[in-house]
Amino acid sequence: MVDKKWQELGYIDEPIPEGTDIKAEIRKMCKEKNALIMAHYYTEASVQDIADFIGDSLALAQKAATTDADIIVMCGVHFMGETNKILCPDKKVLIPDLNASCSLAESCPADAFEKFVKAHPNHTVVSYVNTTAATKALTDVVVTSSNARQIVESFPKDTPMIFGPDRNLGNYINKLTGRDMLVWDGACHVHEKFSVERILELKAQHPNAKILVHPECKGPVVKLADKVGSTKALLNYSIHDEAQEFIVATESGILTEMQKSAPQKTFIPAPPDDSTCACNECSYMKLITMRKLYNCLKYEWPTVEVEPEIAKKAIKPIHRMLEISKQLGL
Ligand code: 13P
Ligand code: SF4
Repeated sequence: MVDKKWQELGYIDEPIPEGTDIKAEIRKMCKEKNALIMAHYYTEASVQDIADFIGDSLALAQKAATTDADIIVMCGVHFMGETNKILCPDKKVLIPDLNASCSLAESCPADAFEKFVKAHPNHTVVSYVNTTAATKALTDVVVTSSNARQIVESFPKDTPMIFGPDRNLGNYINKLTGRDMLVWDGACHVHEKFSVERILELKAQHPNAKILVHPECKGPVVKLADKVGSTKALLNYSIHDEAQEFIVATESGILTEMQKSAPQKTFIPAPPDDSTCACNECSYMKLITMRKLYNCLKYEWPTVEVEPEIAKKAIKPIHRMLEISKQLGL
């Protein structure tokens, strides 16, 4: 039974006995419990290092759909854990801190989104994966930043569509595809903070650097990019492109994998516009620490739960995304 204090906090952060080899203990527990640790690229480096699998939102959902582990530990944010639970209802899905939310998911409460959807009947509803399960349950097809363009284009051009919740990604896809989707007015608090001015200052200092931008950034920032893409797409570009320097306008956790994959190259995090700090971090992703991960595996808590009625509805647009992605070879 988990102590009431931790239940109220939504995580267990018990001190680990001195001298414990925390990495070895985590690996041992994973083996004993047949648990798979999955981590998003935005988590801290130590968490990425211990993970069995690191990926962007699409790859994490694809992995969850095929794993034979009994327990999935989602080192990322809550909507990622929910997606795993919806795809694997019989597995135990753990998240080291239940407070690891997402400002995009929060910007689109299901009750308000439902009113918006009902006000626009006959529209196909496209939701970014960064939404709660309840919002996904109101959706026809889920997308991630890896497949949004292709999935939108898989519908006939004259299909009336709603896109939620990220206005920046929605507007970007509208521009790329020549569509006129109605876009929900949500945004990510991390990606909205990048500014043209600060990126241009960096470019002046590093004239040969290529600029990598996540499509959750504002339009004028996206316009500066040599490459726009999901975390995985930016990572691949940085590995294969001939440039030796990159200015990276997405959450700075991705630099861990970039640097590991191309140690000879230089990666410069683009700073947020409102502070003296050099990099831009997602406070939710950084709630996932090694100590919480250790305790979460030890006590098998907190679990991610999704109401069965919601899960029944939300699984359809998630499956649709996975099927279209498979057909498109994504
Ligand atoms: P990716 O789909 O690129 O992993 O993005 C997820 C996310 O939360 C971006 O902020
Ligand atoms: Fe959500 Fe933004 Fe954090 Fe991604 S970076 S998880 S969109 S708050």
